[in-house]
Amino acid sequence: MIETNQLATEARKSLMRILPRVEQTLKRAITKDPQAWEQFSKRLHKNFPALLALYADVYSDRYDFFYHLEDLIASMARSWFERPQDLRELDDAREQDPHWFQSNQMLGGVCYVDLFANNLDGIRKKIPYFKELGLTYIHLMPLFKAPEGENDGGYAVSSYREVHPPLGTMKQLSSLARDFREAGISLVVDLVFNHTSDEHIWAERAKAGDEEYMDFYRIFPDRELPSRYEQNLREIFPEEHAGAFSPFVINGKEHWVWTTFHSYQWDLNYANPAVFNRMAEEMLFLANQGVEVLRLDAVAFIWKQLGTNCENLSQAHTLIKAFNAVARIASPALIFKSEAIVHPDDVVKYISLEECQVSYNPLLMALLWNSLATRKTRLLSQALAHRFKLPQGTAWVNYVRVHDDIGWTFSDEDAAILGVNGHDHRHFLNEFYRGRFPGSFARGLPFQENPITGDCRISGTCASLAGLEKALHEEGEKEVELAIRRILLIHGIIISVGGIPLIYLGDEIGTLNDYTYRDDPAHERDSRWVHRPRADWEKYKKRSNLHSLEGHIFHGFRSMIEMRKSHEVFAGGDLEIIPTDNEHVLGFMRTYAGKRAVVFANFSEIPQTLSSRIIEQYSITSLKKLHGRNHVSPKKSLELEPLDFVVFGS
Ligand code: GLC
Ligand code: GLC
Repeated sequence: MIETNQLATEARKSLMRILPRVEQTLKRAITKDPQAWEQFSKRLHKNFPALLALYADVYSDRYDFFYHLEDLIASMARSWFERPQDLRELDDAREQDPHWFQSNQMLGGVCYVDLFANNLDGIRKKIPYFKELGLTYIHLMPLFKAPEGENDGGYAVSSYREVHPPLGTMKQLSSLARDFREAGISLVVDLVFNHTSDEHIWAERAKAGDEEYMDFYRIFPDRELPSRYEQNLREIFPEEHAGAFSPFVINGKEHWVWTTFHSYQWDLNYANPAVFNRMAEEMLFLANQGVEVLRLDAVAFIWKQLGTNCENLSQAHTLIKAFNAVARIASPALIFKSEAIVHPDDVVKYISLEECQVSYNPLLMALLWNSLATRKTRLLSQALAHRFKLPQGTAWVNYVRVHDDIGWTFSDEDAAILGVNGHDHRHFLNEFYRGRFPGSFARGLPFQENPITGDCRISGTCASLAGLEKALHEEGEKEVELAIRRILLIHGIIISVGGIPLIYLGDEIGTLNDYTYRDDPAHERDSRWVHRPRADWEKYKKRSNLHSLEGHIFHGFRSMIEMRKSHEVFAGGDLEIIPTDNEHVLGFMRTYAGKRAVVFANFSEIPQTLSSRIIEQYSITSLKKLHGRNHVSPKKSLELEPLDFVVFGS
């Protein structure tokens, strides 16, 4: 560790020693493009003290610390020389406008390349559709080279520099990024940096007994340490393998490798600085292809320490901050999105300008579903009041569904304040969303049911969880209408609440569960595939027909998106909860640049009334109605229709 008061001096001294050596190595590039070198040096000098402090925090005990530090600087410089001019210009623009992602114009979408449009060229052809919906951010699910067959939907990466061959090439990806940018869309991809597939060249070398690469992973010659670690670990995919380690053989002898997720996903060993440096190179390579946002996959798990649960450890934060500092130096336009699906106290710790500028908001997601099931808004309201505010300049990515299961990650302590027992309530929610609770409208499936603890998580598409599947197959028009209202209600909230709304593409036309995954040997054991269907473009075509189901839902999405985009008040993340005195109705006020909007969401299938006091207190009659079915009669109470989403604004 470097003392804070010595940091500036130490940083200057280190750079004075290292830079001449790097200049020597990169002499040719520097002579060819001296201006680029000047830009790089400027950003390096500015950000090096931060990087040094972080890097030293984790690695200064190593005898070869300086070797790795110099290696890292050389990598960053090399990558900068390779950075295309248009991206260097984007770097400048983003440094001038670091709040770009807080705009009310922002709208995210996420899809699988193959399932949505077959391949990268197909995705390019969908740009007009993305624009029609209003997207400015597209997350393409993992598209890198991965093992054939089972590969966790691409989250087992065999090469970060190659696109999975059926999807296209890296060249196509970078040209797609450019086409996106021209269409006002930022490309988001994953950096799956906690683990690689067991077919990655590093893993192949480790399997061959190459010690340098064995040190890239957490490999043990016997079960002694693994068993000691496991005493404190949570099982993530208990249906796939018990514990966190998988056996494999080197030179005829059994070894154990750390595998938090599937046995073919090998956790990297970040205690080795070479792993950090090589991953930083992969990260900068992707940034140089035009990726603007990296979704940092499974951030919670990257550091392990005996005697802890090996989640959310302080070194994990230090390392992500170090990656962030690397980006500030060599690809400043790049920002990080944290994927921490953990306790809400831990989720926020990843969010800062120095670490991840944006983050999934798993708590809001889980509590929206909770409110639909309970028809009550207390937990949701409490969470928005106490856990929504983020550091200046950062933002939530708010979503209702993604490719993963739903875990009920609310805080037991928060629930207890409201007299709710967390454990029992999770059990209720699982039963409800599996359709096993009386009055349930949902058609979800269990994911990773743990036979010992009885825990599970929930799979299913938004529409099937919100009641559309059941209504269409077993009920009737009235229930269909209610299901559609549920879908629109929770989307209305993510669109208006502050931060970046993220749509799991398919939800905007009410895509139902797809049970055919059970026929595919590569997917049958993973119920998350029920909500990863192939896009049905015949159904998409119906989106302009308001009398079709698809058209009805699509139109509902579009009108809320239009509302967001035409009112600046939906920018930023300022939010104040409105106590509605009605447990079924969530109320909040948004403010931005002197503008104001008031939002009410009725989570009940029964009409609800809000008192005249609220109407007066929030001077609702002085505002225009921006969305919703209801009319306020001045000074009287506000009647909310079943599952209605109502917005007033100036
Ligand atoms: C992330 C992904 C998930 C994957 C896991 C392992 O949580 O969202 O789909 O299974 O990481 O990479
Ligand atoms: C990862 C997985 C997700 C799981 C979570 C649990 O984020 O992707 O499926 O719910 O870890 O801990």
